[in-house]
Amino acid sequence: MSHSRFRYRTSEQLLDEAARLSIDLPYVSDLSRLAQPVRIGAAKTPNALGIHPMEGCDGTVDGSPDVLTHRRYLRFARGGAGLIWFEATAVTAEARANPRQLCLSPQTASSLALLRQQTMSAAADAFGPHHRPFTVIQLAHSGRYSRPVDHSAPILAHHDGVLDDVMGIRPDHPLIGDAELDRLQDSYIAAARLAADIGFDGVDIKSCHRYLLSELLAAHTRPGRYGGSFENRTRFLLETVRRIRDAVPDLQITIRLNIFDAHPYPWGWGVDKTCTGLPDLTEPLRLVRLLYGAGVSLINVTAGNPYHSPHVNRPFDRNVIGAPTPDEHPLYGVSRLLDLAAAVKRAEPRLVVMGTGYSWLRHHLGNVGAGVLERAGADIIGVGRGALAYPEFAHDLLVYGSLDPHRTCLTCSCCTQIMRDHGQTGCVPFDRNTYGPIYDRGRRAQSA
Ligand SMILES: Cc1cc2nc3c(=O)[nH]c(=O)nc-3n(C[C@H](O)[C@H](O)[C@H](O)COP(=O)(O)O)c2cc1C
Repeated sequence: MSHSRFRYRTSEQLLDEAARLSIDLPYVSDLSRLAQPVRIGAAKTPNALGIHPMEGCDGTVDGSPDVLTHRRYLRFARGGAGLIWFEATAVTAEARANPRQLCLSPQTASSLALLRQQTMSAAADAFGPHHRPFTVIQLAHSGRYSRPVDHSAPILAHHDGVLDDVMGIRPDHPLIGDAELDRLQDSYIAAARLAADIGFDGVDIKSCHRYLLSELLAAHTRPGRYGGSFENRTRFLLETVRRIRDAVPDLQITIRLNIFDAHPYPWGWGVDKTCTGLPDLTEPLRLVRLLYGAGVSLINVTAGNPYHSPHVNRPFDRNVIGAPTPDEHPLYGVSRLLDLAAAVKRAEPRLVVMGTGYSWLRHHLGNVGAGVLERAGADIIGVGRGALAYPEFAHDLLVYGSLDPHRTCLTCSCCTQIMRDHGQTGCVPFDRNTYGPIYDRGRRAQSA
């Protein structure tokens, strides 16, 4: 099971490795399923390939998209994916993860409207007027990872026996209060209204990766209306979904949801109480059914914490600089993400499920994605880092039936490294002229 870098040129080599690891990897050569449209509420995606939300950390000071933000989404749009999930966009100023994170507010709404409209025009110019990617905007609160100006300013749902120490958070650091959470719901409703006005097909009430709403799901030790019991821990999310449903009935509500935190109980969600490494999906799947009942049409399944368990979150060949190499084969990490998405689909087959964890598979990702669709393990195959490296991946899979193995993501973590060094991020190996200098600058600044 120990870590290994990607070295599987052929399908036989990949499947042999999967067999050696006792992983039943879905793999088909017929990619036609990737071309199938997917119905989400009243809308339909042009195909079953999607791009995950990925922060570029490249907005303006007020939270509007800037030059590199536009460049990124236009590249995505020209690449042909049927769904574009716009990145984590803060619902309040203090919720920002970095001073360049996008914000959705009355001040930034017109600039985000322009970004979406130009993205749609670029897609139509490339593939014709009938090609209309489904667009979701991720509404975010960074919680303990808030850093709205130039230093971290954590907002905690609960104290955490592991993360508090790692982050130097003192035991007397106050928790966000119940009344403040009530008011925060209003900010999500206001942002959802703006998102609908701008033209987005859906909003995502981001509940993953241990940001605020994700941490609330695990708030076993928190007192009050938002902590302790399952009902209390899921209250914020379910109430927010119901309020958006009532306020903006035509807007699709989606959730990027951690199904498994890979974090010890009582601070983790979806985890076995005695063995941190093992999922216990009883509560997450109960929540999935409640979310569907409350009007959520699409769940994007994810797991882990990008800072603390990045290999669970995004299997890689290389970690960020100075961080340890995990003692886990990345293919095992990929298969865990596929299994989690399949469990959600089984729990509520009427829900549209978007799967995560495909980029490490490089030029095999379309074959595995089509295999997952064939087994009804998801409805949309989501690609994150792979889209930064190779924005035309969807076009090439759908038109040529394959990916160029020399252009696929190397899972080298350079994009994450730029974020950790507080730069504007993108793919260093395959978009070198733009991001190579930013990467070098960030490294120099950190080592100065
Ligand atoms: C540079 C970068 C930015 C990211 N930003 C977000 C984000 O804004 N919201 C989110 O839910 N996930 C974010 N992620 C996680 C990705 O959406 C995705 O879950 C992860 O990269 C695993 O998918 P992949 O293996 O296809 O890359 C980010 C990942 C990277 C590398």
